[in-house]
Amino acid sequence: MRLRAHRYLPMAINCKQLLLLLLLLLLLLLSVSFISSMTISVSEENLLLDFKSSIEDPSSSLSGWSSNLTHYCNWTGITCSFSSPPSVTSLNLQKLNLSGEISSSICQLPSLSDLNLAGNHFNQPIPLHLTQCSSLVTLNLSSNILWGTLPDQIAHLSSLKELDLSNNHIQGQIPQSLGALVALQVLNLGSNWFSGILHPSTFSNLSDLVMLDLSKNPGLTSELPMEIGTLGRLKWLLLPSSGFYGPIPESFLGLHELQVLDLSLNNLTESIPFGFGLGMKKLLSVDFSQNKLSGSFPSDICDGRALLELSLHENLFDGSIPESIIMCTSLQRFQVQDNRFSGFFPSGFWSLPNITLIRAENNQFSGEIPDLVGALSRLEQVQIDNNNFTGRIPQGLGRIQYMYRFSASVNGLNGILPENFCDSPLMSIINLSHNSLSGSIPELRNCRKLVSLSLAHNRFTGRIPSSLAQLPVLTYIDLSSNNLSGEIPQDLQNLKLALFNVSYNQLSGPVPLSITDGFPASYLQGNAGLCGPGLPNSCNELQTRRKSKTNALMIALVAIAVAAALIVLSLTFFALHKSSKRRQNAWKSMFFYPLGISQDELLMALDDKTIIGRGAFGIVHLVELPGRDFVVVKRLISSGIVSLRKAKVELKNLAKVRHKNLAKIIGFCYSDGVLLLIHEYVKRGSLGDALLRPKILLSWKVRLQIALGAAQGLAYLHKDYLPHLLHRNVKSKNILLDEDFTPKLIGYGLDRVIEEASYQSSMASDLGSCCYIAPESGCSKKATEQMDVYSFGVVLLELITGRPADQPDSRESLDIIKWVRRRINMNNGSFQVLDQRISNSSQVEMLAALDLALQCTSALPEKRPAMAEVVRSLHSLHDIVEPPSLIFNGELPSTSS
Ligand SMILES: *[C@@H]1O[C@H](CO)[C@@H](O)[C@H](O)[C@H]1NC(C)=O
Ligand SMILES: *[C@@H]1O[C@H](CO)[C@@H](O)[C@H](O)[C@H]1NC(C)=O
Ligand SMILES: *[C@@H]1O[C@H](CO)[C@@H](O)[C@H](O)[C@H]1NC(C)=O
Ligand SMILES: *[C@@H]1O[C@H](CO)[C@@H](O)[C@H](O)[C@H]1NC(C)=O
Ligand SMILES: *[C@@H]1O[C@H](CO)[C@@H](O)[C@H](O)[C@H]1NC(C)=O
Ligand SMILES: *[C@@H]1O[C@H](CO)[C@@H](O)[C@H](O)[C@H]1NC(C)=O
Ligand SMILES: *[C@@H]1O[C@H](CO)[C@@H](O)[C@H](O)[C@H]1NC(C)=O
Ligand SMILES: *[C@@H]1O[C@H](CO)[C@@H](O)[C@H](O)[C@H]1NC(C)=O
Ligand SMILES: *[C@@H]1O[C@H](CO)[C@@H](O)[C@H](O)[C@H]1NC(C)=O
Repeated sequence: MRLRAHRYLPMAINCKQLLLLLLLLLLLLLSVSFISSMTISVSEENLLLDFKSSIEDPSSSLSGWSSNLTHYCNWTGITCSFSSPPSVTSLNLQKLNLSGEISSSICQLPSLSDLNLAGNHFNQPIPLHLTQCSSLVTLNLSSNILWGTLPDQIAHLSSLKELDLSNNHIQGQIPQSLGALVALQVLNLGSNWFSGILHPSTFSNLSDLVMLDLSKNPGLTSELPMEIGTLGRLKWLLLPSSGFYGPIPESFLGLHELQVLDLSLNNLTESIPFGFGLGMKKLLSVDFSQNKLSGSFPSDICDGRALLELSLHENLFDGSIPESIIMCTSLQRFQVQDNRFSGFFPSGFWSLPNITLIRAENNQFSGEIPDLVGALSRLEQVQIDNNNFTGRIPQGLGRIQYMYRFSASVNGLNGILPENFCDSPLMSIINLSHNSLSGSIPELRNCRKLVSLSLAHNRFTGRIPSSLAQLPVLTYIDLSSNNLSGEIPQDLQNLKLALFNVSYNQLSGPVPLSITDGFPASYLQGNAGLCGPGLPNSCNELQTRRKSKTNALMIALVAIAVAAALIVLSLTFFALHKSSKRRQNAWKSMFFYPLGISQDELLMALDDKTIIGRGAFGIVHLVELPGRDFVVVKRLISSGIVSLRKAKVELKNLAKVRHKNLAKIIGFCYSDGVLLLIHEYVKRGSLGDALLRPKILLSWKVRLQIALGAAQGLAYLHKDYLPHLLHRNVKSKNILLDEDFTPKLIGYGLDRVIEEASYQSSMASDLGSCCYIAPESGCSKKATEQMDVYSFGVVLLELITGRPADQPDSRESLDIIKWVRRRINMNNGSFQVLDQRISNSSQVEMLAALDLALQCTSALPEKRPAMAEVVRSLHSLHDIVEPPSLIFNGELPSTSS
C-alpha cells in the first residue's frame, strides 16, 4: 500500500484525489492498529513458546505449553490478568530442573510483573535483557548457577519491590546503582561471591526495605554502612558469614521494627552501641556470635523479671512501663557466643517470657544465674560454657518444661546440685564440668531423656547414684576428677554407654565387666581401689589385701592359734605317718588300659626323681613303663576328694572320653584322701614348656594346628560327650604335644572327683592358672562353657604372640590380656602383638586369629563364641589364601574358576 502511495505522489494532484488519498491513509491507520492489536494477543503465546524453545526441560515440566491444548493462560506457571484480552502478569517456573537460555522474549510480555525462575539450573550471566522488563515488581532468580556481575542496569527495574538473587555465583561489587530501586522491600543477595565494600549511599534511598540479606559473601570485606541503620522499616537484617569488620554503627539503634538481627560470623569489633535494644520492641532473635565484639551489656537490659513483677502489681502502676523494661519481652533467641564480652551477663535475659535459647559460651561474662522462673520459662537451650559465671545452679532448672540442654562448663559455679536439676521432661544434655560444685550427685530418677551427663572436674563427693542405670538413653557419662567414692554400680552395664569416664576419683571395688571391656584404661585410672581385668589390681588380690589390712588384728590372733595347732599336728603326724605306711595295701586301683606294671610298682615309682610338675591339685610324676612308654600320674591330695564309690563311677565315665585331642585317662589308684590319676603321656611335653623354653620355634602352621586341635577337644567335651563336660582348667601347661604336634588336653574332669568347694579353692590358689581365668568367675558360682572359651582364648593369644600368659619376671609384668589389649589400643597396634619371629607371610592369618582370640577373651561372657564356632573359624583360617598381591606383582589372577 505504501508503495502505491509512493507511486501516486509524483502525479498531478487534484482535490478528489487528495480526498481519496486521505481516505486511504485513514483506512491504513485503522487496519494497522487493528492488526497490531491482533498481534499482541497472538504474540504473547508466541513469546512464551519462544521462551520455551530456548529452555532445556529434562523433566518435561513445560510439556503442557502447547497452543493446541489449552489457552496459554492455563499453562504451567503462567498467571494472566483478567483484562480482555488477558495478559501474562506472572511467570513462576521455580524448581522445575530447567536450564538453557533465559530468552529475551519474556521482557516483551507487556504486563509481566513477577518472574520467578528460582531453584533451576540456569548457568549463565544475569541476562542483561532482563533489565528491560520494566514492569517487573518481583524478580526471583535464586538458587541457580548464575555468574558474572550484577549489572548497573538493574537500576532500570524501577518498580522492583523484591529482588532475590541469592544462592548463585554472582561476583564483583554490589552496584551502587541498586540504590535507585527505591521501591525495594526485599533485597536478598546472600550466598554469592560478591566482594569489595558496601557503598554507603547504596542504602540511603532504600527506605522501604523490610528484609536485607547479604549473608555468606565472604569476599564482602566492608565496614557496616551507617546508612543501614536508617532503614527504619527493616524487620530482617541478615548479615552473617561475610567479611564485615569494624564496629556496629550506633545508627542501628534506630531499627525499631527489627525482628531478626544476625551479624554472626564476621569480624566485628568493639562494643555493642550503648542503648542497644532500647526501642526494639519486636526483637525475636539476636545473633552476634563468632565475632570479636567486646565490652559489656548494660545490666538492666531486657529486665523481664522487673516486667513480671510490674505486671503482677499492675494496679499499683500508672501504666507507663519504662521502655528499657519492655523492650525485649518478645525475644526468643539470644546468641552472643564466641566473642570477647565481659562484665555482668544481663540477668534480665533469664526470665524473659518467650526466651528459648541463650548462648553466651566462650566469653568472659560474670554474674550469677538467677533462680529461673521454672514452669513459666520457655527456655530450651542454655549454653554459657567457658565464662566467669559464679553462684549456684538455679533451683528452677528442673521444672522448665522444654529445657533439653544446659551446658555451663568451665565457670566458677559452686554449691550443690539441686535434687531435681535434670527433671525437665526433655532434658538431654547436661554439662557442668570444670566448676566448683560440691556435695553428692542426687539420684536421677526422672531424667528419662538424658543422653549426656558431664560433671567432671568438680568437687562432688559420695557415691555414683545407682539410679543412673535406670535412665534408658544415657550414653555419655563423665564424672572424672571429683571425689566420688564407693563402687561403680554394677547395673551401669545395662546402659549402652559410649563414654564412661570416672578417672581420678576415689572409687573402689570391682569394675562392671562391660566397662573394662570397651573403654580405654585411662577412663578408670586414678582410682586406687578399683579392681578388675585390665586394671593394676585384680579383685582377688585386692580383697585379700584389704582383708589383710582390716583384719590385721584377727590374723595375728589366728596366727597364734595356727601355731598352736601346728604343734599339735606335728606331734600327731608321726603317728599318722606310721599308720599310712601300714595301710599301703589299702590302695584300690582300676586300670582301663593294660599298663604292663602292677599297682605296687607304680606306687614305688612315685618318688622325687619322677616329679615333673606341681600343680594346684597336687604333684605330677612321669612314670616309665616297660617298653619305653610313659604315663603321667597326677597325685591329687585334697580333703575334697570324693568317696571311692563316687570316684569309681566318675572315672569310669571319664575313661570313655575318646578324642584324639584329649589325653586318655588310663586308670586311677585310690586311697583315703589321695587319688592317683593316670594319664596317657605324649612325647613333646606341654605347650606351656614349648613356649617358655622353646627348643624349636613353632611355625605358625603348627601353632594353628595346635589351636585347632585344642579347640576340637574342648568342643567335644562341651557338646559331643554325654554328659557334657567342662574342662575348667584350660592352659598351655594342660595341652600336651604329640610327636607330630597333635595337641592333647589333660586336666579335664577333675571337678568330677574333687568336691566343688575344694576344687575352687585349689584353683584360686594356683598362680599358674590365674591369667587363664575368666573375669566373671570371681562373681559367679557356676562354671560355664564361656569360661573355658576365655581360657582357650588366652592360649590362642600365647600362640599368636609367642608370649607365655604370665610373665612375672619380665619388665612388663602384665598378663597377656592386658599386654595385648593395651598394645592394640595404641595406633595400629595389632601388628605389634604378633610373634615377631614368625615370617610376615603369615600375618593375615595371625591377625584373623588375633581377632578370634580377642572375641574369646571378651570380658562379657555372652560375647564369646561357642567352642564349635571357634573350631569353624580356625578351620576357615586354614583356607585363607594369601592376598594375591603377595603372590603376584603383576596382574591379579582370574578369580573365576
Ligand atoms: C499440537 O500441535 C503440534 C504442532 O503444532 C503437534 O505436533 C502436536 O501433535 C499437537 N498435539 C496435540 C495433542 O494435538
Ligand atoms: C483454563 O482452564 C479452565 C478449566 O480447566 C477453563 O475453565 C478456563 O476457561 C481456561 N482459561 C482460559 C483462559 O482458557
Ligand atoms: C528434578 O530432577 C530431580 C533429579 O533429577 C528429580 O528427582 C525431580 O523430581 C525433578 N523435579 C521435577 C519438578 O521434575
Ligand atoms: C525465591 O524463590 C525461592 C525458591 O522458591 C524461595 O525460597 C524464596 O523465598 C523466593 N524469594 C522471595 C523473595 O520470595
Ligand atoms: C537517592 O535519592 C536522592 C534524592 O532523590 C538522589 O539525589 C540520589 O542520587 C539517590 N541515591 C542513589 C544512590 O540513587
Ligand atoms: C577476619 O579478619 C582477619 C584478619 O584481620 C582475617 O584473616 C579473617 O579471614 C577475617 N575473618 C572473616 C570471617 O572475615
Ligand atoms: C510470646 O509468644 C507467644 C506465642 O508464641 C505470643 O502469643 C506472645 O505474644 C509472645 N509474647 C510476647 C511478649 O511477645
Ligand atoms: C575471669 O576469671 C579469671 C579467673 O578466675 C580471671 O583471671 C579473669 O580476670 C576473669 N575475667 C573477668 C573479665 O572477670
Ligand atoms: C563438657 O564440657 C567440657 C568443657 O567445656 C568439654 O570439654 C566436653 O567436651 C563437654 N562434654 C560434652 C559431652 O559435651
